[in-house]
Amino acid sequence: MGSNPVPATIFSFSVIYNRAYMQIYKILNQGSFSKDDIATLLSIHNDADRNTLYKKAYQIKKQFVGNIAYFRGLIEFSNICAKNCLYCGIRSGNTKLKKYEMTTKEILDAMDFAWKNRYGSVVLQSGEISTPKFVDKVDTILQKIMDTTNGEIGITLSCGEQTKETYKRWFESGARRYLLRIETSNKNLYYKIHPKDEYHCFENRVNALKNLKEIGYQTGSGIMVGLPFQTIDNIADDILFLKNIDIDMVGLGPYIEHSETPLYKEKNSLIPRIERFNLALKTIAILRILMKDINLASATALQAIDPEGREKALLAGANIIMPNITPTKYRDDYLLYEDKPCTGEDAVLCKGCLEARIAKYGEIIGYGEWGDSKHFDKRKNSDK
Ligand code: 5AD
Ligand code: SF4
Ligand code: FES
Repeated sequence: MGSNPVPATIFSFSVIYNRAYMQIYKILNQGSFSKDDIATLLSIHNDADRNTLYKKAYQIKKQFVGNIAYFRGLIEFSNICAKNCLYCGIRSGNTKLKKYEMTTKEILDAMDFAWKNRYGSVVLQSGEISTPKFVDKVDTILQKIMDTTNGEIGITLSCGEQTKETYKRWFESGARRYLLRIETSNKNLYYKIHPKDEYHCFENRVNALKNLKEIGYQTGSGIMVGLPFQTIDNIADDILFLKNIDIDMVGLGPYIEHSETPLYKEKNSLIPRIERFNLALKTIAILRILMKDINLASATALQAIDPEGREKALLAGANIIMPNITPTKYRDDYLLYEDKPCTGEDAVLCKGCLEARIAKYGEIIGYGEWGDSKHFDKRKNSDK
């Protein structure tokens, strides 16, 4: 024999590896994915295959929505929440938290920062309460933002489940987008991460998403990945759920434990944080390939695990970044999860920081544009 024989173990490893690569390559070149295909992609465990997936997603992103990252200035205007989700740091049961509600002036000042800095839009986010006082306050703020900016700034709301009438009222006052994560589309898992009572009803949440779409909102939803009890199969179902309800925007991120929540007791059963991070990026990439023209947010929670997490998500298919513009004095009290980044940095610092990081990754920031979901535009035009 002229050449050295390849040791059997290495040989079989490379055969298996090549077979896996061929399978992934084949799936990525199909027109659509079955649930099994999605599960295979979510199960990718090596860097080379992950990068193949991300590259495909990035290529589709460039083709359908461009390599532009749109900024949404995030205003976390109240941490008062009537709900008690088992994973969330601002749940009503967390009595260690100082409750706050920003004044109308503070909210308008934050909005003004976004507008003057040519952020296309703002996201007004809060805990979930439905008192008439809260509903009125949001309504007044919407009207004031519309008046001050002549409707120039896009407004997204993320204030949880509300009645259809409230959603309608806020729409009429100027809100155009609404984010309401389903968190998980699996009913059993939903009740493992939420209390089983009438305030945390899976069907109501799905119904709220339907109502938002009917009213005419660009509707966003999403999930957490790496939850305790969650399987790859669950995430594959989540992806198909988001596709089937024909969502316009997605925001998803890794689950991160918080010591003042009931779910913390499951911390030893979690997959490592870096795996949750990779799983989130793979989910983003698959959604980009499947739903080509949606807006896909790069969640702040990604940066809690990897300092460059949000930029990495842009290269895996995300096209939206939400710089935090909440006044710093409130940031520590909006700790949904531990290690939340930017709690000490104000809006100016976050802007400069993100600009530099995004430029480093070769993306362009879409200043001065609303950056609507192209998927929504297409959906609306086909309704006509
Ligand atoms: N880890 C990650 N994301 C969380 N959220 C709430 N708690 C956590 C956590 N512990 C997310 C939920 C919610 C959004 C506002 O924050 O998905 O919809
Ligand atoms: Fe409230 Fe939302 Fe946190 Fe649930 S996830 S406790 S609804 S803020
Ligand atoms: Fe907030 Fe870097 S993004 S400081």
